[in-house]
Amino acid sequence: MSIQRSLVLIKPDAVRRSLMGPVLTKLEETKLTLIAARLTRVSPQLAADHYAQHVGKPFYNQLMEYITGKIHGAPYDKVVALVYEGDDAIQKIRSLAGDTNPEKAQPNTVRGMFGRITTAGLFENVLHASATPLEAEREIKLWFQPDEILADIYPTKKSGTTRAWERIPAVSEL
Ligand code: CDP
Ligand code: MG
Repeated sequence: MSIQRSLVLIKPDAVRRSLMGPVLTKLEETKLTLIAARLTRVSPQLAADHYAQHVGKPFYNQLMEYITGKIHGAPYDKVVALVYEGDDAIQKIRSLAGDTNPEKAQPNTVRGMFGRITTAGLFENVLHASATPLEAEREIKLWFQPDEILADIYPTKKSGTTRAWERIPAVSEL
């Protein structure tokens, strides 16, 4: 067991089908700590960087259209990006997600419950989750600025002045 971080994306099919809540509920049930969260559109550049390992694969072009929101369209062309931290975070979230192929995913997993294969053969599988610690570090740095992450996960330079609205109050101050 070791403390790990995992990047999770709730994909546009989940946004389109009002599944953000159910997916977040499942993620919270892991009791991992949420340390960053953002609703965002995915630029073609970010999509290409995120899925660089899949360039040239038969599903690549559809995957780009999927993650950039072109398949589901406005106002669903967005993802929720999250970082979870905790013991064995990567395997815990991968197990919760289930198999990449929604038809193979166990019915008690998120992909088994909510995923589908489109008639064009794309796996609309509701969420992305980092597969290894190395992949997690690369992805977290791609999706988040250091000051968006509410934990000291990678060493960063402390900025000079902190404006009042940027300050996160200590529990004793609430
Ligand atoms: O997301 P995961 O790490 O489980 O799978 P991947 O092999 O890294 O593939 C990335 C994404 O491409 C998947 O989550 C699917 O959305 C999509 N994919 C697909 O549509 N068809 C495949 N045969 C493989 C992946
Ligand atoms: Mg992957």
